Amino acid sequence: MNDRQADIGMIGLGVMGRNLLLNMAGRGFVVAGYDRDQDKVSALAAAGAKDNVLAAGDLKSFLARLKRPRAIMLLVPAGRPVDAVLGELLPQLEKDDLVIDGGNSHFSDTDRRLADFERRGLHYLGVGVSGGESGARHGPSLMPGGSAGAWDRVQPIFAAAAARVDDEPCVAWLGPGSAGHYVKMVHNGIEYGLMQLLAESYDLLHRGLGYSNERLAQVYRDWNGGPLSGYLVEITAAILERRDERTGRFLVDVILDAARQKGTGQWSSQEALELQVPVPNIDQAVLMRDLSARRDERQEVAALLGGNPPPVPVHPEGILKSLEKALEAAFLLTYGQGLDLLRRASDRYGYDLDLEAVARIWRGGCIIRAGLLEDLRGAFRRRPDLPNLLLDRELAERLKTRREPLAAAVGLAARLGMPAPGLMAALAYFDAWRSARLPTNLVQAQRDYFGSHTYERIDAEGSFHTEWEQE
Ligand code: 6PG
Repeated sequence: MNDRQADIGMIGLGVMGRNLLLNMAGRGFVVAGYDRDQDKVSALAAAGAKDNVLAAGDLKSFLARLKRPRAIMLLVPAGRPVDAVLGELLPQLEKDDLVIDGGNSHFSDTDRRLADFERRGLHYLGVGVSGGESGARHGPSLMPGGSAGAWDRVQPIFAAAAARVDDEPCVAWLGPGSAGHYVKMVHNGIEYGLMQLLAESYDLLHRGLGYSNERLAQVYRDWNGGPLSGYLVEITAAILERRDERTGRFLVDVILDAARQKGTGQWSSQEALELQVPVPNIDQAVLMRDLSARRDERQEVAALLGGNPPPVPVHPEGILKSLEKALEAAFLLTYGQGLDLLRRASDRYGYDLDLEAVARIWRGGCIIRAGLLEDLRGAFRRRPDLPNLLLDRELAERLKTRREPLAAAVGLAARLGMPAPGLMAALAYFDAWRSARLPTNLVQAQRDYFGSHTYERIDAEGSFHTEWEQE
């Protein structure tokens, strides 16, 4: 009988929980796992048949196996399941015990739970965990926030388990309260934005210009060797060449075009609206998932309004280089929108986020990891309080030279009659920021016309109103 005490315990032994626990055990920590589902407990016992993995069949014996004060991580579905586990756990916790929520909880839930824990003399961390099943097992990106002192206790375990890039672990203390879960929410918003852009590029080349899946797989593989290198580009290449076991066709061709979502992208958009931060690439990605899901209705409309797009003469080599540059610009702008939201949220909620650290821990382990993050990190190194990525000279210059390819991609989509709202949003976002004068003077005049809302002038201080309907 193994009577060692565990450094950390995990409640929720689904594939993420089990893999992260085995990752920690592999780094030499003693770990304990518990799940209500006894099959999952057995699976852990079977997977970690080593001295430092303890599998518990009930909560009481699980808690008894942990070193005091205890560190207990939860990897259970966000929302009610987290509250249900906490409800069961709370009466059995002792002073200074620490609970770590590693799921995609809404940041406001994390703030509520954290306040409750601290009132009771307990500690709470909300930790974003990204990287999917394989990341959890071999090195995720970890985004912790919450009770500051408590982090030091578990930091060595998380630093050992995290992905590493250039020998730096992809984990950093992000801030108090819900800082970690907020950063994870925005990570997912960016994830939605990048996925939408990749889907648009695939659509333009495949449906628009007739590229075969095989050829496209090679295009994304090539792109993954250049400025667009990153996990999502890499998996896109792998997906495009995968054959369906049932039919022998390309698997991507038999997958229904109705995207689902668990909500984190939508939360990012909702939050951005609340904080008045424009994040159009995240918004468009959420909207396109929503629209795609109304598939039956779309088929009816397509029968009425669909049609063959006009043929577009383009030089194939030219289009690939140009689209690569367009995506590079749109990717940078999507990351920029997410980072802008984080900067505003940091002020509003007192997270005191270090955006260089955020870019650094996103370079490896997580779904949005990409070479571009090193460049974004560079911008925050040059100026830690950078208010807007477009104010970094290097990035601004890079975007300037990629505006034409981005506009060309948008033009191509428009001529082909194909939806490319991500590319279009990125272009409009860039052009809006670089417009010294926007047409909102007219909006102000209209507001004053119908509602006496007043306007300001370019040549005098104060608020002005005009009696518009008088001569
Ligand atoms: C990650 C992922 C992960 C999950 C998303 C998917 O960082 O590892 O983002 O958290 O795959 O929740 O989100 P949707 O179901 O909303 O697409």
